[in-house]
Amino acid sequence: MKSLQNKNILLGVTGGIAAYKSAEIVRSLKKMNADVRVVMTKSSHEFVTPLTLQALSANPISSDLLDINAEAAMSHIELARWADALLIAPCTAETISRLASGRGDDLLTTITLAFDGPIAIAPAMNQAMWRDSRTQDNVSKLVANNTLICGPGTGEQACGDVGIGRMLEPEEVLNIFSSLFKSGKLISKKVVVTAGPTQEPIDPVRYLTNRSSGKMGYALANAALEAGAEVVLISGPTDLNAPEHLHFVSVRTAKEMHEAVQHHLNSTDIFIGSAAVSDYKPSKEYKNKIKKDKGKKSISFELEENIDILKGVSSQTKRPFVVGFAAETQDVIKNAREKLGSKNLDLIIANDVSKTDIGFDSEENEVTLITPRDDYFISKNSKKAISKKIIDFISEVI
Ligand SMILES: Cc1cc2nc3c(=O)[nH]c(=O)nc-3n(C[C@H](O)[C@H](O)[C@H](O)COP(=O)(O)O)c2cc1C
Repeated sequence: MKSLQNKNILLGVTGGIAAYKSAEIVRSLKKMNADVRVVMTKSSHEFVTPLTLQALSANPISSDLLDINAEAAMSHIELARWADALLIAPCTAETISRLASGRGDDLLTTITLAFDGPIAIAPAMNQAMWRDSRTQDNVSKLVANNTLICGPGTGEQACGDVGIGRMLEPEEVLNIFSSLFKSGKLISKKVVVTAGPTQEPIDPVRYLTNRSSGKMGYALANAALEAGAEVVLISGPTDLNAPEHLHFVSVRTAKEMHEAVQHHLNSTDIFIGSAAVSDYKPSKEYKNKIKKDKGKKSISFELEENIDILKGVSSQTKRPFVVGFAAETQDVIKNAREKLGSKNLDLIIANDVSKTDIGFDSEENEVTLITPRDDYFISKNSKKAISKKIIDFISEVI
């Protein structure tokens, strides 16, 4: 289940006999290198100890809606923003009923309201409770609301009954749950993503560069991978680890990036140029380090225009769907729309890098997707969540 690797999984645990299985779920998720945080309902504490789940998840357990220790005392919002997906296992008839009616009177239900990512539940209850028409109506409401229902299974129950209602085994639950990350929207598509900055050498120890952590491009490459695409990630120097399961190409200068893009462009369906490519480069690269000359108060360099990687892609006769980025500090939408036209792009993603809480080194971003026809605003969220939305958008319009 590689698709759960590096994911932030919020596990909700409710008060049923099967709560002991949640310990195995946490252990398995950790083995898959997922980061796990557990939210327990009050009654679940009677069935499994918070200490067990805390030790296994290596994270504090959350239970209280009113948490004075959380940032701004709003752990429901913090956890909803943190999570990539929410799994409630086991999920009692009571919690199913409260989710179906949109209640928000404890931490777990409030998180489900604040969370706009995928939600799965693993129902676990006595067979008569499961078959009850009110439970079935509630489950239908959740299905209509895009909740993934994992199980329940059939067999002998803790109360001695035999029938449908027992929670699936942890491995079966995780198997179904992991399907949330395989959207399949880009199956059999090839996506080339550029990310990070370029470095244009001045001399052997100095270079001209742009501010860029590469986080957005790497997140987009991962989102495309999760959507089933074959992905090539061409990256300038960053501090990030190369993601697994994609073709990674490391470059330094804009010229190297351009050559790598051209090399991999054949049969590419989508090109996403998120790299911060230096518009200019020093006209001359000094062979030796430029020494400080005490007699000179200033020195100057001539810069020349760099190669335009995006135009190099969009001017091809058999071109892919071309996506550019516009990191602007003023007139964001106007400047981005101009770039969309001048570079002949299909989509441009505009972000305001004058705001300090989003963009550049931040974990979060807020962007506007601009096509030749429309604008779509994506409000502030993690770069992972924004990337998924961008990939979903692209898969709808190509
Ligand atoms: C011993 C015992 C076992 C229970 N097992 C279940 C169960 O497996 N499934 C279920 O839906 N409710 C079960 N319940 C009832 C729930 O604990 C009860 O509805 C509780 O309010 C659920 O709250 P929660 O969903 O907020 O955790 C059980 C109750 C007791 C006392």
